[in-house]
Amino acid sequence: MQSKLQVKQTTIELIQGDITHQDTDAIVNAANSSLLGGGGVDGAIHNGAGPDLLRETQNLGGCRTGDAKITGGYRLKAKYVIHAVGPIYQRNNDSVPGLLASAYRRSLEVGVANNLTSIAFPSISTGAYGYPVNQAAEIALQTVIEFAQLNVQYALIRFVLFDHPTWQLFCEELSRIAGGGDYQSSDIV
Ligand code: APR
Repeated sequence: MQSKLQVKQTTIELIQGDITHQDTDAIVNAANSSLLGGGGVDGAIHNGAGPDLLRETQNLGGCRTGDAKITGGYRLKAKYVIHAVGPIYQRNNDSVPGLLASAYRRSLEVGVANNLTSIAFPSISTGAYGYPVNQAAEIALQTVIEFAQLNVQYALIRFVLFDHPTWQLFCEELSRIAGGGDYQSSDIV
């Protein structure tokens, strides 16, 4: 079982825990397009940040699915929250995988634009939005690994999985990708 991978300058790691406890530069919220809060990760982040977070997000004009917007972190340990909107899973909709990849990629791009060097992701879309974890894990990890191969900005990209089964599925997927030799062995420590 693999829970860590070095890709050039970036350490990609998988932990089981609570995203609101992370002290990375930014934590990513699994938001909805209104950016006005919700349950799951969204509820936990808004509870942890306090009311000033909603005061900021309600002036952002929402966020398209597959996109991401940044705010302050307020009472959270993380200085920033990057609000990413993943897709609602639909079995026969070919655009859904690309929208999930885009939610991760745009979050990373927004972090680069704000000179961040560490970021923590939840498992976007695998809760209320119903995305099968094994399929989402493959998309999430491939997207992040490809980004780390092309951008050396991040020292740390962390996935914070709330429950053990989700953590285990992400680790199995990371082992498969890393073992699959999909990229030069020099990327793997
Ligand atoms: N830390 C880390 N992961 C968490 C936490 C937490 N505190 N709370 C929940 N999770 C996990 C869930 O177990 C799931 O694996 O995050 C994953 C995503 O679940 P959701 O939060 O339901 O997010 P998502 O599936 O993207 O649905 C987004 O739900 O809360 C609403 O406003 C949100 O409408 C949006 C929708």
